[in-house]
Amino acid sequence: MSKNEKYELLYKQVLSLAEGERDREAMMANTAALIHEAFGFWWTGFYRVVGEELVLGPFQGPVACSRIPFGRGVCGTAWQVQRPLVVPDVEQFPGHIACSSASRSEIVVPLIYHDRVVAVLDIDSEHLATFDETDQAGLEKIAEVLAPLT
Ligand code: SME
Repeated sequence: MSKNEKYELLYKQVLSLAEGERDREAMMANTAALIHEAFGFWWTGFYRVVGEELVLGPFQGPVACSRIPFGRGVCGTAWQVQRPLVVPDVEQFPGHIACSSASRSEIVVPLIYHDRVVAVLDIDSEHLATFDETDQAGLEKIAEVLAPLT
């Protein structure tokens, strides 16, 4: 299956799960599991916007940083600029927060509802340059399903 086909299948699975579950956190948990299993990434998870910080939400993978301030790291920057960030080499991203020294590349996609970021989807790879525009487009579609949930 191509990467694009994998994302198409994932999108259908997330849509189908969302028909039966409208709780965003429950959907984040199953979505992280689906993405993580489909691609075998190093770390796949969500951070929720709580006040002025991102707080760790459902994830798959090793223990991670639990709080990230607005504008800090890749996650806090994606929240600040309100758009996805693809980082081919985390060592080249000023202020990158290394929750794990194994992480080499990263993608962060904000969940935006009514012009506000409500959470971010963060994926780490132990390989350089894992993520491209196919990942970004596929993950943005998934983020759009989760963002309106409560
Ligand atoms: N690297 C992220 C922190 C979160 S972990 O990767 C799970 C960042 O710079 O925001």
